[in-house]
Amino acid sequence: MNKQLQEDLSSLEKIMQLVSRQGLDYLKQIDERYTVANGAAAPLGSLPEKGLGTIETLQQFNNRWEPLMVASSGPRYWGFVTGGTTPAAIAGDWLTPIYDQNTQAIKGDGDISAAIELETVHLLQELLELPDDFLGGFVTGATMSNFTCLAVARQWLGQQLGSDIAKEGITKPLPVLTATPHSSSVKSLALLGFGSNNITAVKTIEGNREAMDMAALEAQIRQLNGQPFILISSAGTVNTVDFDDFNAIAALKKQYPFWWHIDAAFGGFAILSETHKHLLQGWEQADSITVDGHKWLNVPYENAVYFIKRAHRLLQVSTFQNSNAPYLGDPLEQFNYLNLLPENSRRLKALPAWFTLNAYGREGYRYIIENSIKLARDFGAFIESCPQLQLLAPVRLNTVCFSLSGAAGDAKKVAAFLSALNKTGEVFMTQTQYKEQAGIRAAFVNFRTTEKDIERVKTSILRLLTAGTH
Ligand SMILES: Cc1ncc(COP(=O)(O)O)c(C=O)c1O
Repeated sequence: MNKQLQEDLSSLEKIMQLVSRQGLDYLKQIDERYTVANGAAAPLGSLPEKGLGTIETLQQFNNRWEPLMVASSGPRYWGFVTGGTTPAAIAGDWLTPIYDQNTQAIKGDGDISAAIELETVHLLQELLELPDDFLGGFVTGATMSNFTCLAVARQWLGQQLGSDIAKEGITKPLPVLTATPHSSSVKSLALLGFGSNNITAVKTIEGNREAMDMAALEAQIRQLNGQPFILISSAGTVNTVDFDDFNAIAALKKQYPFWWHIDAAFGGFAILSETHKHLLQGWEQADSITVDGHKWLNVPYENAVYFIKRAHRLLQVSTFQNSNAPYLGDPLEQFNYLNLLPENSRRLKALPAWFTLNAYGREGYRYIIENSIKLARDFGAFIESCPQLQLLAPVRLNTVCFSLSGAAGDAKKVAAFLSALNKTGEVFMTQTQYKEQAGIRAAFVNFRTTEKDIERVKTSILRLLTAGTH
């Protein structure tokens, strides 16, 4: 064996202890660690001919990169929709590469880790109160979940029109209707050959809303004269967390032929809040649903789930089957994830979720969701109370979308303020554009965030506003 590999194998215990110690040190000070990277790493020489071994490589990492690691799973990282990592999720994630299973089939000559994945999907289904007539699987993020669902939707549309798109390709434009899709759905449609220019925009409800105007939707459906189509709806738009009316969509589904997809990347977790669960009423009637793990479930990147109705299993297999590979078994006889989603070989992505769902249960998750909602409301109330700031939309769930008073038309001014705020290293938020206005988003998704964090950020903001940084 190579000398470094041999030495590392002999020092495995020490390596694991060092890594564990380092992880613990980082997590213990995550509340205080800065939220933006300060500087850049010194350049590295070339690839070593003779390896350094793990312990010295760790030292290298600590000298060059570790100081630049930001507290993205810390309590004041409010940019994008960034979940934290619960202790149990970390435990599951650490064990994933140690067992290094290749999660494909539930029965086979070797690995059966797909059974753990199915069990985890079931736990998540219970948490989200979704019926058992969905079959789910883990992918790397909500983007890939949207992609997976829309790929099966494309196959369904082809079937309605008498073709097998997986085999024959798209031969004519396929209708897709949506009001305020997340950019990742648009990206998925581009990748799937629909063409992002071929999406039909549905009008949103008048006023400060991002949800579909249902009368406008029905009028647009009528114009299709019975042609089947795909409808992409939102359980939580990314700027203002608006929800489409799922009961109304379900009623339309009884009258018109369409594949109904819901992007519920984070909004699906609203089901755990007694005061917000009504927003999801009727969602179980969709054909496919996207739910992210690395957002409100607080498991590490890369983790999301797709849910597709079991009734579409054959379509799903015809979309993703890994044909011409007899050594991988018959896709219709044997359950194998490689015939149901984009990847072939894959890690046991479900393990962090399996750990965290068992460790905290419904009660733990109810706390995380209710706490995030409350903190968003508190932060929103602060924005409203501050004359130099304005809310761009009411706080509907866990995100606050705001701007500088009277400056929402001035993207540079808003960017300068946000940059100064982020540079404090106290908090991280991201810029956005909402109905032609420049805004800032603060998304509450991390189980660690408390009222104290809100107070700290308020202080930083007030200090900047008093210093005239706006
Ligand atoms: C509603 C929604 N859908 C999809 C995505 C894409 O998620 P990911 O980055 O996990 O692929 C996001 C990310 O913020 C989102 O908010």
